[in-house]
Parts: sequence; C-alpha cells; structure tokens
Amino acid sequence: MKRRKIILDCDPGHDDAVAIMLAGRAPELEILGITVVSGNQTIEKTSPNALNVLQYLELDIPVYAGCGQPMVRKRIHAADIHGSSGLDGPVFPELKRTVEEEHAVTFIIRSLLSSEEAVTMVTTGPMTNLAMAMRMNPGILDKIERIVLMGGSYGNGNITPAAEFNIAADAEAAYVCFNSGRPITMAGLDVTRKALCFPEIVERMGRIGNKASKLFVDLMGHFCRTQKEVFGWEGGPLHDPVPVAYLIDPDILKTKAMNVEIDIRSEQSYGRTNCDYFGYLHREATADVAVDIQVERFWDCIESGLRRYG
Ligand code: RIB
Ligand code: CA
Repeated sequence: MKRRKIILDCDPGHDDAVAIMLAGRAPELEILGITVVSGNQTIEKTSPNALNVLQYLELDIPVYAGCGQPMVRKRIHAADIHGSSGLDGPVFPELKRTVEEEHAVTFIIRSLLSSEEAVTMVTTGPMTNLAMAMRMNPGILDKIERIVLMGGSYGNGNITPAAEFNIAADAEAAYVCFNSGRPITMAGLDVTRKALCFPEIVERMGRIGNKASKLFVDLMGHFCRTQKEVFGWEGGPLHDPVPVAYLIDPDILKTKAMNVEIDIRSEQSYGRTNCDYFGYLHREATADVAVDIQVERFWDCIESGLRRYG
C-alpha cells in the first residue's frame, strides 16, 4: 500500500496527543514531521508536550517548533481544558528529546518543495504555521495534496457562540488557508462532538494494556474531567484524532461540499466558519465539510491504533 505523506501540525493538547498516537504507527501514513504551534498552550509548552508523547511512545518523528503568536489577533489559550502545562494529567519520564533547530514554517516549505509527491497537511490546532508558510512561499501551494483539519463548525462554537477554538485562535491564518485554493476537508465540532469519550470507551482502551493505552487513560482522566467542568457533559469530545482517522478510513466521515467563509471582520462572530450548507449564495464550494461520523468505526480505528504499540 502506498503510504500518504503527511505533516501533522498541532498544539498538544490532550486530543492532539491522541491524534499523534493514532497517526504514529498508522501503516497508511508517512509522517514527514510534526510541527507545533501556540494554541491550547504557549509554544514553550506545546513543543515539549509533543516531544513527551513521542519519546514515551518511542516514535522517531522529528518535531519542529513553530509560531508562538497568531498572525494578527492577541494570543489565546485553553488552559481551562488542557491545564497549565497544556497536557495536565500524565506523568512522563525525564524529557531527553529536543525540537529540531529548523523553524516549523521553514520545515513545511522545505518539505513540500523537496517532496516528489504532494503532501497532505493535517492541522489540529490554529493554522498559523501553514498560513505563514503559504505567505512566505506561495510556491508550496501545488505541493499541498489536501488540507485536512480539525476546526470550525456550521453549528455552535466552543470558544464563543459563533466560533470554534482552532479557527478563532487565529482566524486570519484560517482565512489564508481556506482561500488558498487547495482542497480542504474540514472536521468541525458538528462531527467531533459526536466522538464522546465516555467512561466505557476509556475502560475499553485501558484493557489493551500497553503503553499507548495507559497514556490514553491518563490523558482522558484529565480531559474528560475538565470537559464536564466547562461544558457539563459526560465524555469529552475527542476532536483531533477525527481528521487522522478520516485519512486512515475515509468512510468514517460523511462530507458535503460547501462554500466556507472565515469571519475575520466582525467582533461578535470573529473566527466563525460560515458554511453555506444549503448553497444559498450560489458560490463555488471551497471545502468538504464533515456532516456525520460513524462513531463506532471511529472508536474501532482508535483501538486499532493503540494496539499497534507493543
Ligand atoms: O476546538 C477543539 C480544538 O481546539 C482541538 O484541536 C483542541 O485541541 C483545541 O486545539
Ligand atoms: Ca488541538
């Protein structure tokens, strides 16, 4: 099977960590590198968080630290969900790994230009690194096979009534990416809020009994508790593994082509992904937006992913 080349751009983050775990040993994917961005926490925290997950799972994938600030707006974080470290809960052994010298943005540019085939950009945090790479070198655009992101929603937001965190944390970056002309698959809250990690799911993954399953249980211990504190629901929505699971098993998501505009101008709705679900505006579709998820198939994919670790 030909493996799909990807770069995973993330802001670990508990659900980002599970996305890394799922992608890390997936036979369908060849991870060129993991790029990290400010989002759930500062870049000074999301970078070691990514390194800790990779070191613990013995994944030899390079990590590149990226942008510590959004392109325009003031930086925001999600410590209420992910804690002061950005990955509260798990206790890792002494971190010996370091990030690569090269900045994430130049790594993205260099990798895309040097790759023979086009690369899939998977983003599970604010899209700052990818947008900056597009602006620094537009020559990378035709080397982007597709942008597959966790972000946005055509329903409610989660950081404001209108906007989802990854988009609102750097809406200008999302605007650049969504207007790049490259194919996009958007896995928004509309589907990720159906991937609810209930206690029985945590128990199911805990029964696997390897190092990945232990990390999953430790991560979900914190993540599900804070999701209940903030949103009041049982079972945290496991957002970020959804786009990775889609690349492993595309039938997990049902998508609908829509015109998607990112609101970067209004105060109340800044960061909203305005998805023209019914085609009112008769504009060209700019993204394949996920409208449903096969939840059982998703959890099967997660379990298979965790079982790949000895
Ligand atoms: O809105 C959910 C998204 O914001 C997830 O990617 C989570 O990790 C945070 O980055
Ligand atoms: Ca994230």
